[in-house]
Amino acid sequence: MAPTVSVVIPTRNERAAVPRLVQEVRAALAGLDYELVFVDDSTDGTDALLAGLARDDARVLVHHRRDGHGLASAVVEGIRRSRGQAVAVLDADLQHPPALLPAMLARLETEGADVVVASRYLPGACAPGLSRARRGISLLLRLLAQALLRGARRSTDPLSGFFVVRRAVVEGVRLRPVGFKILLEILVRGRYTRVAEVPYTFGPRAAGRTKATLRQGVDYFRHLALLLATSPPDARPWKFLLVGASGVGVNMAVFWIVTRPVGAHYVAGGVTAGAVSTFTNYLLNSAFTWADRPADGAGMFLRRLVRYYAATGAGNLVYLGVLTGLAHLGVVPLLANLVAVGVGGTFNYLMHNVWTWGGQRGRV
Ligand code: GDD
Ligand code: MN
Repeated sequence: MAPTVSVVIPTRNERAAVPRLVQEVRAALAGLDYELVFVDDSTDGTDALLAGLARDDARVLVHHRRDGHGLASAVVEGIRRSRGQAVAVLDADLQHPPALLPAMLARLETEGADVVVASRYLPGACAPGLSRARRGISLLLRLLAQALLRGARRSTDPLSGFFVVRRAVVEGVRLRPVGFKILLEILVRGRYTRVAEVPYTFGPRAAGRTKATLRQGVDYFRHLALLLATSPPDARPWKFLLVGASGVGVNMAVFWIVTRPVGAHYVAGGVTAGAVSTFTNYLLNSAFTWADRPADGAGMFLRRLVRYYAATGAGNLVYLGVLTGLAHLGVVPLLANLVAVGVGGTFNYLMHNVWTWGGQRGRV
């Protein structure tokens, strides 16, 4: 029989912390049907200690890796080996208080939550276990993730390493995190609707020392880039921006051809350049920005083309409206133009997303 909850614990050289951790987890989960799944990359004898625990208690499973690939990959391995209906993840060093687990598990039921995050950044939470420098870095890294990834915006602490998920959130999902941030990976790739959070105090380590080094910092940026590249909704605005930039190039080239070698009036140049660059933008956006929503035939492709021109035209009107409006309010023209370009571009993007390439419910 599958246990109700699996607690996945990554360990690397935590010999001094493990006994108390296990004691506290057992106390917290007494009365529940649970298993503890350790994924260990230690070289300090932690594996022997864990093996001893597993011999004495059938609820303890240990997987020792010879050449492990870091914290997040250890958690993925642990999830894969676990069987509980709910999966909890926490660190071995007691910076994540096991006593919080029952309250976190309860939120799955009381709120129908799919993911429950223990957060360092809710009212009532604090992180004395982080140095002032790490707190600042952590804030910047968190804001960056939240700026780039919708999944990260679902939590006040998307970089937390302490959370509970229903198995369905990760079942069948291909997780390939780089580095330390397993929750971020799950928030971006997992299948969930409700996220609940509980505040906690991220205290000092029970023993041993942190494995966070500069290496994890570099891994973090690689991880963000990978998530962005493989998550179409998150990459979309940036792709749209790139295509827009290419359109400026096309526009300039066509304008030059029409006004110079051909020798036409500049208004003719502008109109032709606009029509042509809108067309190339459409092609590129089809093949790149909204490539995950392919047309099901030539008819649809043409219908979208018409919509694309219509939405772009509407966007131009929005641009002109904002520009004149701001100019009338006395904003310096250069700034007014910048704001108008931003508003017009955002309008275009949203129109294309919900209308030109929209029409399917639940798509983003
Ligand atoms: N198996 C395995 N392999 N475990 C590892 C590895 C590894 O390469 N590196 C670290 N761990 C284990 C540690 O043994 C510990 O149990 C846990 O992962 C966290 O490592 P720490 O070195 O203590 O990380 P931290 O305290 O700086 O940061 C942790 O907490 C933060 C707040 O929740 C991490 O979980 C961060 O990702 C998290 O933001
Ligand atoms: Mn720690």
